[in-house]
Amino acid sequence: MTNAQKRALEELWPAYGFGSDSGLAGQIAGYENAERSLEIGFGDGDALLSLAKEHPMRCFIGIDPHRPGAGRLLLRLQQEGIENIRIAIGDAAQLMPTIDPGSLSQILILFPDPWPKKRHHKRRLLTADFLHILSEKLQAQGRLHIATDWQEYADEILTALDATPALENEEGRLAFSERPDWRPLTKYERRGLRLGHQVFDIAAIKR
Ligand SMILES: C[S@@+](CC[C@H](N)C(=O)[O-])C[C@H]1O[C@@H](n2cnc3c(N)ncnc32)[C@H](O)[C@@H]1O
Repeated sequence: MTNAQKRALEELWPAYGFGSDSGLAGQIAGYENAERSLEIGFGDGDALLSLAKEHPMRCFIGIDPHRPGAGRLLLRLQQEGIENIRIAIGDAAQLMPTIDPGSLSQILILFPDPWPKKRHHKRRLLTADFLHILSEKLQAQGRLHIATDWQEYADEILTALDATPALENEEGRLAFSERPDWRPLTKYERRGLRLGHQVFDIAAIKR
C-alpha cells in the first residue's frame, strides 16, 4: 500500500467507510430514499466510480477485503468529489447480516476470484447458499448481475442460480446474458480480454 493510500484510509474513512457494526444499510445522509446498489469485490473501484458518476441520485455500496484497492478508491472519491459511494473493507459473506432484507435494488459481482485449482473451489463465493442470502437483500424485482471470464466458474454459478428459487435467470434456465451496455469495463475484465478469455454475463431478477 502506498503512503497516500494509507493516509486516505485513515483520513477519508469517516466520510466514506462503514464499520461492521454500523450497518451497511444504515441511513446515508442525503440518500435515505435513494435506490441502493451493492458491489461485492469492487477491486480498484472502477465500476463503482463509473456507475456512481452516471447515476448521482442513486447510492452505491462496495465491499472488498483488499485494503490497497479501498485506499485507491478513497483517493479517487475525494479527488472527484463523489458523494454517493460508501465502502466496507471485509468479507462480503461475513458482512451480509448487516444489510437489511429487501434494501437493495441491484447487486453486482464482477470478476469474482475464480479459485481455479480444484482443491480451492470450496473458497468460491458464489454458491447456491450465498445466492440465496443475496436474494433476501434484494427488493422485489431487484437485479443481480454477475460477470466472470472463467467458463467453468460461470457454469457453476448458472447451476447455483438454477437451485435458488427466489432468483429467476432473466435469460431462462441455465442461459447466459448478453453483456449489458451499462456494465463498466473493469481492470479484471480488461485483463481477461487481453488473455483472450471469453466473458460470461449472468443476470437474475428477484421473484
Ligand atoms: C479478480 S478481483 C476483481 C475486481 C474488480 N471487480 C474487477 O473486475 O476489476 C476480485 C475481487 O474480489 C475481492 N474479494 C474476494 N473475496 C471477497 C469476499 N469474500 N468479499 C468481498 N470481496 C471479495 C478481492 O479482494 C478482489 O478485489
